[in-house]
Order: sequence, then structure tokens, then C-alpha cells
Amino acid sequence: MSHASTYTPSTGIEKWLDKRLPIIRMSADFMDFPTPKNLNYWWTFGGILAVCLVIQIVTGIVLAMHYTPHVDLAFASVEHIMRDVNYGWLMRYVHANGASMFFIAVYIHMFRGLYYGSYKEPREVVWMLGVVIFLLMMATAFMGYVLPWGQMSYWGATVITNLFSAIPVVGDSVRTLLWGGFSVDNPTLNRFFSLHYLLPFAIFGVVALHIWAFHTSGNNNPSGVEIKDVKKDAVPFHPYYTVKDGFAIVVFLILFASFVFFNPNALGHADNYIEANPLSTPAHIVPEWYFLPFYAMLRAITFDIGPIPAKLGGVITMFSSILILFVLPWLDTSKVRSMRYRPVARMWFVLFVITCVFLGWLGGKPAEGSYVLFAQIATAYYFAFFLLILPLLGLLETPKPLPRSISESVLPKTKPETSAAPGAPAAAE
Ligand code: HEM
Repeated sequence: MSHASTYTPSTGIEKWLDKRLPIIRMSADFMDFPTPKNLNYWWTFGGILAVCLVIQIVTGIVLAMHYTPHVDLAFASVEHIMRDVNYGWLMRYVHANGASMFFIAVYIHMFRGLYYGSYKEPREVVWMLGVVIFLLMMATAFMGYVLPWGQMSYWGATVITNLFSAIPVVGDSVRTLLWGGFSVDNPTLNRFFSLHYLLPFAIFGVVALHIWAFHTSGNNNPSGVEIKDVKKDAVPFHPYYTVKDGFAIVVFLILFASFVFFNPNALGHADNYIEANPLSTPAHIVPEWYFLPFYAMLRAITFDIGPIPAKLGGVITMFSSILILFVLPWLDTSKVRSMRYRPVARMWFVLFVITCVFLGWLGGKPAEGSYVLFAQIATAYYFAFFLLILPLLGLLETPKPLPRSISESVLPKTKPETSAAPGAPAAAE
């Protein structure tokens, strides 16, 4: 959806710069970008995510000024930030809750993409870059959680790094490399700190590609029908969506602030206020809430699958649950993008969302008794949704008729398209 530039440099310096580095032109074109006029609030989460990323980077840099990545000092340095550093408590609570807010927003953003078929041609690359961002976010959050060196930090790191030893042949070496030794210890904390500082900037780079990609394909929209007539179907990004996104960001920040100021530990685990102790294993090792669905899938594989031992099977299942998203654009065979016009797919989608939430709940329960059975059923449905339901439904389902254009999709059905000029009197019924 690249559009002709309407920018004309007015001052001498603008003309000079435009010939050498057309950065003002680029920003002006960005603001003018023809955006579908029917985007709903689910489309504000991209902007919300960009704000989350900036908040995490800024607060993280300030925290790093006072944090000490050493096993003997890390826990105490975090308490020092909380008690002695001016507004240190605020930086830490914003950063810790910011991670949760980031994941809430990214999950909504991803489910939005799934529902409206935003991963389909020509947006496959937008989607795949999104999956890369998601993987980087998970790695960053995991390593960040280790830094305060509490009990959950230590034991979470131990459980997850040990998973790598299940990889045949090279598993033990990979684990030793991750640890930088023969257990989770000071070198592990150091490398995790280093990578935790680095990865958000890598995310920043991939986000730039992500935004570039959807500026090339154009935004999808709730109807899933492409822009046909820019004048009728689209509006410039500014002021229409700067205002809409801005409003959504303010509402989101209010929710964010309500956690930070009124219940800052609600999303954390009490055990992380106990300093790491390699000699005392907590009764239940649970990851942060945003990892729980994947944790449930990891633990659902309690049996060997042919030559594959259960532990490796769990690891493969967990990683596949994310990697499968890379091929989603080619698994879904339906030509219709938006599930608004796919009533049958919509039902399966609702069940899929419920399954993901259910898996999250199961991930927080001990892996025993019927919890394991439920996790196995839910895991089976998770994969069946991608591998069976979406491929088959595209061939079997009869979608509802699509609107001819975006503008038609937003106009009342009884009125002819021509009577809807802004401010025009309503046509007689
Ligand atoms: C730091 C994380 C991310 C940021 C800052 C970000 C940013 C954005 C922005 C600004 C948009 C355009 C506005 C919108 O559609 O909401 C967008 C669109 C999109 N994003 Fe992301 N995104 C992130 C992560 C992801 C992830 C993890 C996925 C999927 C796995 C994803 C998939 C998509 C898709 C498919 C679109 C096109 C939507 C459409 O046009 O309908 N994004 N993203």
C-alpha cells in the first residue's frame, strides 16, 4: 500500500535536507498513510505495544544503573533499588508489571490477527516477524525474571535450562553453555543480564521491520476486504488513528497504573521475595502467568512417543506450539480473511481462545491427576486447531457473502452507498 508522497518541502533547509536524507518526507508520508476507515479498537494494540516496549527499555536502563549482576549482591541490590534509590520502587514496579502488560497486549494483538486473518496473503511476513518478536519477548522476559535472584528466579532458571539437556547428542553441551558452568550460578546470572539488556534492542529492530512490512502490504481491517478506493475506504493515519490510538493508550496506561500503584505484586510470586537458595527447592515451581499455557503443554507429555522420551516430547511440543505459528499462513486454506464472515470457523476460534486460557490455568496447577489429562486434551485441541480445523474448514465451510468494499461494510445495509457522504441527510428508507 505504498502511496505517492504528498510532501513538499517549504523552507530552504527542508529542501536541502530532503535531497540528502528525506526523513521529514518519510515521517509526513507515515502520518498520511492511507488507513482503512473501519479499524476498531483491537487495532490499537500495535501502538500500545510500541509504548510498552519504550517503557520497558527506559525503566530497564534506569534499573541497570543500580542493579548488581552477582549472585551475592543481586537480591540485595534490588532491595536497595526498592528502598534507597529515589523513585527506584516506581522504576522497578513499572518494569515488572510492564512485562505483564506487554504480554497482555501482545496476546490480544495476536488473537486479533488470528480472528481477522491478518496473517494471510499478502501479510505473511508481517505475521512471521511478529512471531520472531514474540520469541524474543519470551526469551527477554525469562532472563529478566532471573535477575532479582529470588527463589523462583533460581528454580525457574534451573527447570527451563535443564529442558535443553533433553535435546539428543548436543543437549548437555547446550545446557553447559547456557549455564557457563555446571549449574545455574554466577556466570549464568551474568550472561542473562547481558542478554536481557541486549534483546529489547533486537526487538526494537524487528518491530521496525514489522512496521515497514505492514506499510508495504497495507493494514488489514475488520472486514478483511482490501482497500479498493482510497478516497472512500481509507482515511489518513493522522489525525484519525493518532487520536484513536492515543485514547486507547491512555486507557491502557490507567489499567497499568492501577496495578503499579494499588497491587504491584498481584502478578508476581511471593517466593521471589526469598533469596535464591540452591539447597531448598520450592514446593511448586511456577513460571510467570504469561508462560503458563506453554508450561502446561510441556508437562502434558508424560509418556514416551515411540523412540522419543517423554521429556524430549514435552520440549518438542512446547516449542512446536510457537513454531507452528510460522506456517499458519499456509495451513489456513480459506480465501476469506475475517472470521466475521466465517461463522463456523468463528466457533472453533472461540473454543481455541478458551483452550488457551484453560491451558494457562492448568499450567499453574501441579502436574498430577486429572490436571494432566485435561492438559493433554487441551494440547491436542491446540494443535488440531492449526493442523486439522483451519486446513479443513477452508475447504468445507461456506462463508457469508463478503461486502464489495470497506465503505459498503460500514454503511447501513438498507442505504445505497452513494447516500453516505459525511453530513448528508439520511436517505428515505
Ligand atoms: C513488540 C511487539 C509488537 C509491536 C510493537 C507491534 C506493532 C504493530 C503495529 C504498530 C501494527 C499496526 C497496528 C495494528 O494492527 O495493531 C501491527 C500490526 C500487526 N502485527 Fe504487530 N506488533 C508486535 C508484535 C506482534 C506479534 C507477536 C504478532 C504475531 C505473532 C504480530 C502480528 C501483527 C500482524 C499480523 C499485524 C497486521 C495487522 C493488520 O493489519 O491487520 N505483531 N503490529
